[in-house]
Amino acid sequence: MWDTEIKPWIGAMKAQLDELAFARCSYATNPKALELSQLLSTIVPDGLTSFKLFCGGSEATEAAIKLSRQYHRQTGNPLKYKVIGRYGGFHGVTMGAVSATGIPIRKVPFVPLLEASSISHRPIVIAAPTRRNSRGATSPAPRSWRT
Ligand SMILES: Cc1ncc(COP(=O)(O)O)c(C=O)c1O
Repeated sequence: MWDTEIKPWIGAMKAQLDELAFARCSYATNPKALELSQLLSTIVPDGLTSFKLFCGGSEATEAAIKLSRQYHRQTGNPLKYKVIGRYGGFHGVTMGAVSATGIPIRKVPFVPLLEASSISHRPIVIAAPTRRNSRGATSPAPRSWRT
């Protein structure tokens, strides 16, 4: 987290640590996770009522790979284990996520990895609108802004 006004963040972080310093989400939940899940349930499509929360993108990618493997194993397709990624795609720093990346230089130091393939190119967005942040930097607009 980067900010020139760091003091308010420190106060917020201390308040959070005073309330809940650490909670492992694998086998139990906690009031903050329930609060976030309740908030998420108000913005996701109808019918989605369960949430599995993770600490970041790499962990979420790892969990998605494991979940799909478990699903196929339990439904009688144990050989359906390959991960398909896009050329140029980045999915995180854990072994499963690195396996799925489509950026060869990020994979080479860690071979052998999980069996995975990069099969499709990233879509080319023509004339994507941009937005400007408070420091004046531009970045692609959210997908929802595009037609
Ligand atoms: C698509 C995607 N997946 C996973 C990650 C990894 O997330 P984290 O750095 O939180 O582990 C990133 C990070 O940029 C990402 O862009």
